[in-house]
Amino acid sequence: MATKRLGIGFIGSGFISKFHIQSFVAVRDADILGVWSPNKGRAQEAADLARSLRLGDCRAFDSIEEMASSPDIHAIWLCGPNHKRVENLEAIIRANKAGKSHLVGIAVEKPLARNAAEARRVMELIEESGLLHGYLEDQLFEPGIVRGREIVWRRAAALTGRPYLARCAEEHSGPHAPWFWQGDLQGGGVLNDMMCHSVEVARFLLTDPAKPRNSITPLKVSATIASLKWSRPEYAEQLRQTMGKEVDYLTRPSEDFARATIEYKDEVGNPLIAEVTTSWSYVGAGLRLTSELLGPEYSLSINSLDTSLKLFFSRRVRGSEGEDLVEKQNAEQGLMPVVANETSEYGYEGENRYFVNCFLDGTQPEINCYDGLEVTQLLMTAYKSAEEERTIAFDPKEIESFVPAVARGTWSGKQA
Ligand SMILES: NC(=O)c1ccc[n+]([C@@H]2O[C@H](COP(=O)([O-])OP(=O)(O)OC[C@H]3O[C@@H](n4cnc5c(N)ncnc54)[C@H](O)[C@@H]3O)[C@@H](O)[C@H]2O)c1
Repeated sequence: MATKRLGIGFIGSGFISKFHIQSFVAVRDADILGVWSPNKGRAQEAADLARSLRLGDCRAFDSIEEMASSPDIHAIWLCGPNHKRVENLEAIIRANKAGKSHLVGIAVEKPLARNAAEARRVMELIEESGLLHGYLEDQLFEPGIVRGREIVWRRAAALTGRPYLARCAEEHSGPHAPWFWQGDLQGGGVLNDMMCHSVEVARFLLTDPAKPRNSITPLKVSATIASLKWSRPEYAEQLRQTMGKEVDYLTRPSEDFARATIEYKDEVGNPLIAEVTTSWSYVGAGLRLTSELLGPEYSLSINSLDTSLKLFFSRRVRGSEGEDLVEKQNAEQGLMPVVANETSEYGYEGENRYFVNCFLDGTQPEINCYDGLEVTQLLMTAYKSAEEERTIAFDPKEIESFVPAVARGTWSGKQA
């Protein structure tokens, strides 16, 4: 009997598409068969990467509609920039509606959209299409998070009571492409870009694996945002030089630091707290993901830079700059941690295995775009809290049309 296989097309051929493609060497029963991005040369490069990794007879398509209508494409991984999310999805849905596609599912990168209204629009389009949908939150598939959560809940929480506090952080020295730095295109600054991960990981750790996502309820959010580093004149100038004149942090900064406290309750009213923090102003070896989970008689902690592999290069090793030891690497000398298999450690392998299996089985993924919608609503509540300098009750209706000042280009980043 022929094995059922999932043919996948990628929208976007940038940083994250290449990460995903690399991870597929560890995923069975799927072939990467298409890439579309506006720059056909780049799309071809990503397609060549997939072919070179023996992931399938991959080619660059001329349009989203053409790729979505191809008989061998069954699922699309939507990995374009945030400001094109809705437009990209509309193109997929057009092809699907015209009855030309063989699509069964769509997987959407984080954040689901730039704000709550756009995230609602994404959901309307997906619901209308009837396609299965997944929300690409890789960190829920980090082996340490998955294994740690499972053991804590099975052994410690079962005997001594549920965990009550999760602390999660994601930090690095700043994103790689200009659009991330532009509030209007990205939807905000580091809060929108990276707190989506930490919010979701904290919720995941605090949720009993035997119970549904909504067994814990978000009640209130308090948050702070700040521009700590990149609006200093010398760093604003550095940003302008490397990212172009559209990125002007003297006049239109985005936040490079954000923190939020989200108060939840469980189904019997126990208080739970998620403390999340994130920054583009952390200079260490590279990307650092940290998580803690605390309960009455136990704790869990993870730090992605506490690697078992470390290298020491003396001052005489003066190599070129690279990102070959760790994502967002900052140095090539001294004592350096190396994340030996980043696609596994950050969760991409587990994530892609999960969504491929769901789509092949025709089952709706448990981690899906409704989760992405709720995360967006929580992030918008956090922006509102930071702007109004007060704790805000979580009420999706209240932030339905809210657009952060950072995204509107009216945030000064200065203290009153
Ligand atoms: N899960 C994670 O940890 C993670 C990490 C990085 C990025 N992301 C998300 O992935 C998405 C892409 O980010 P990236 O880092 O790959 O960005 P990138 O700038 O490296 O790549 C973006 C890609 O989109 C293409 N593009 C440009 N215009 C487009 C359009 N109109 N329609 C579709 N594609 C278009 C570009 O050609 C490029 O190939 C973003 O939503 C980002 O938030 C997630």
